[in-house]
Amino acid sequence: MAKKAELHIDGEIIELPVITGTENETAIDISRLRAETGVITLDKGFKNTGSTQSGITFLDGEKGILRYRGYAIEELAEESSFLEVAFLLIYGELPTSEDLAAFEKEISEHTLVHEDVRSILDGFPSKAHPMGVLSSLVSSLTAFYPKSLDPNRSVEEINGTIIRSIAKLPTLAAWSFKNRMRQPVIYPDNSLGYCENFIRMMFSLPTLNYEVNPVVASALNKLLILHADHEQNCSASTVRIVGSSHASLYASVSAGIAALWGPLHGGANQAVIEMLEQIKDDGGDVDKYVAKAKDRSDSFRLMGFGHRVYKSFDPRATIIKKAADEVLGQLGVEDPVLDIAKKLEQVALNDEYFKVKGLYPNVDFYSGIIYRAIGIPTDMFTVMFALGRLPGWIAQWKEMRENGEPIGRPRQIYTGATERKYVPIEKR
Ligand code: SDX
Repeated sequence: MAKKAELHIDGEIIELPVITGTENETAIDISRLRAETGVITLDKGFKNTGSTQSGITFLDGEKGILRYRGYAIEELAEESSFLEVAFLLIYGELPTSEDLAAFEKEISEHTLVHEDVRSILDGFPSKAHPMGVLSSLVSSLTAFYPKSLDPNRSVEEINGTIIRSIAKLPTLAAWSFKNRMRQPVIYPDNSLGYCENFIRMMFSLPTLNYEVNPVVASALNKLLILHADHEQNCSASTVRIVGSSHASLYASVSAGIAALWGPLHGGANQAVIEMLEQIKDDGGDVDKYVAKAKDRSDSFRLMGFGHRVYKSFDPRATIIKKAADEVLGQLGVEDPVLDIAKKLEQVALNDEYFKVKGLYPNVDFYSGIIYRAIGIPTDMFTVMFALGRLPGWIAQWKEMRENGEPIGRPRQIYTGATERKYVPIEKR
C-alpha cells in the first residue's frame, strides 16, 4: 500500500504521498500542498528539501557511500578512466570498448576553440582569477555555436554540444592559466589522451615541449574521476535551475563554474592550502587553529572540513589522502604542508566539537596537496575541480531536460512592510 503522510494545519488534515527511492530514501511529495492548503514549506539552504528525483549519483552521508550510476567510487577511481566515467554519468551505462573509442575520438576532434577566443582572453588582466576567466570563456561558446541557444534542438545537436563542452573545457582551462602567467597559449594535441593533453597545454611553452610524467597524468585521472559528480550540490543545482529556464548548456555550465568558485564549495581546495600555509607560517601550531575553528565568536573555519551530507567521512577524502602519499612519494616531493594537514586532521578527529558536529575532512582537504605536487598553482585548484565536475553537471542538466522538469521558481514568506501610501518627497 502507498505510504502517506498526514499534515494537520488550522484544523484541516491533508494527506500527502510519501515516495521511496531505489536506496529506500523517502520523501513527502508536497507538489499539491499550496494548491490545497495555501501553505508552503520553508527550508533555508534546502537542508531537508529534495529538488528532484535522479538516477545519476547516490550518496549515503552516514555510511560514507558514493556511487555513480550504481558503481562505487572506490572501484571507478582505481579501475576506470575519466572519459569512461564521463560516458557512464552522461549516458547511464559503462561504454563498450567501441563506444568508448568513438567517444574519445569525437572528443579529440573538438578540442580546438575558435581563434577569436584568444581576443576575448587578451581582454583579461593577468591578475584575473582563472575561475572568472573560465566562466566567461565557457559562456562565450554560445557566440561561436549559436544553435546551442535553441533548447529544443535535436538529440544529435544537443549531443554535439555535450561533446564540444567536454572537449573544449581543458583548452579553455589551460588558456585561463596561460593568461594568468602572461604566457602564449598552447594549442591542443589531438594525439594525446585527455589528461596528458591538458597537462601539456598547461606547462608547455613555445620553447619547451613539456614531457608529461605518467605519474602526474594518472594522478589527474583519479582526481577528475573523484570530482565528477555529487548529486544536488550547490553548483549542480545551479546548472539545473539555469537549464530549467531552457538556457543553453554552455550558459548553464558557466553559471555552475561561478557557483563552484565560492570558498564554501569548490573554492575550498584553494582556501585549504592558504589555511595550511598560514598555519605553517605561524609555526605549525594546529591546536591554535582548531581552537579558533571551535570559537563561535571567531569567523575562522577549518577549510576542507565538514559537509552538508557526509557526517561520518567523505569517501573521496580517504582515497585522495592515500593518493597524496603515493604521488608525492613517486615524484620525490617533500611538502611540509602535507604533514601539517595530517596533524590537523588527527587533532580535529579526536576533538569532541568536530565529532559531535560530524565534521570530517572532505574532498577538498587533501586534493590541493596533490595539485601542488604536480605543479598546478593554487588559484587553478578550483578550475581543476570544474574540469572534473563537468560530466556531472552535463548529466544533471541532460536528466532535467529529458524529464521535462518545470522552470525552477521557489516561493517565499514575505516579511517586509505591509501596504502604505506614497509620500511626496517634500512631505517626508
Ligand atoms: C564541497 O554539497 C556537496 O556535495 C559539495 C561537494 C561536492 O562534491 O560538490 O562535496 C564539494 O563543497 C565540499 C565542502 C567544501 N567546503 C569547505 O570545506 C568549507 C568549510 N566547511 C563548511 O563551511 C561547512 O562545513 C559546509 C559549507 C561544507 C557545510 O555547511 P552546512 O552543512 O551548512 O553546515 P553549517 O554551516 O550549518 O555548520 C553546522 C555546524 C555549525 O556550528 P553551529 O552553528 O551548529 O554551532 O558546524 C560548524 C558550524 O559552525 N561547522 C564548522 C565547519 N563546518 C561547519 N566549524 C568549523 N569548521 C568547519 N569547517
